[in-house]
Amino acid sequence: MKYLVTYDSAYGNTARIADVISSSLSEYGKTAMKQLEDVTDKDVKHADLIVIGSPTQGGRPTGPTLQFIEALPAKVMRGKKIAVFDTRFDMEAQKFGLRILMRTIGYAATKMASAAKRRGWDVISRPMGFIVNDTKGPLRDGETERAARWASDLAHV
Ligand SMILES: Cc1cc2nc3c(=O)[nH]c(=O)nc-3n(C[C@H](O)[C@H](O)[C@H](O)COP(=O)(O)O)c2cc1C
Repeated sequence: MKYLVTYDSAYGNTARIADVISSSLSEYGKTAMKQLEDVTDKDVKHADLIVIGSPTQGGRPTGPTLQFIEALPAKVMRGKKIAVFDTRFDMEAQKFGLRILMRTIGYAATKMASAAKRRGWDVISRPMGFIVNDTKGPLRDGETERAARWASDLAHV
């Protein structure tokens, strides 16, 4: 299998998770990691599994993330698989009002998976979220290890 891991990131936390996922996948096959804006059609063409990550902002992925998913060219997507993840706050750690708001507006990865499925792409894993302790990070303890395990699971789907 060949893997492409791509991400958007405002403060580096999603990039860090993408890096861990990429290292983990590289144990199973040729792996490239690129920021969304640097990904070419050729990169997509060469990958069997495309892993896409975004920070959750206002319950959604970033604009470039959604545009990337929506612009994936149908002619090169046949037979390819997709997995999506986001970074986000821990809902349970928030005060009641914010918890309700977060539950209502949801998370980036769910919307990324929906957008990919709407276009007909084969999304092979449930949308995954990794927790940051604050807006700029850091990632919660244990999240990079969890990301490595998730990537290894993806390689075995
Ligand atoms: C404008 C903005 C809106 C945000 N909205 C949410 C949100 O709705 N839900 C949530 O869990 N986290 C929210 N966050 C926290 C981000 O998810 C967090 O900053 C991000 O995971 C950090 O990843 P990054 O370093 O890759 O940008 C928001 C952050 C920003 C800057």
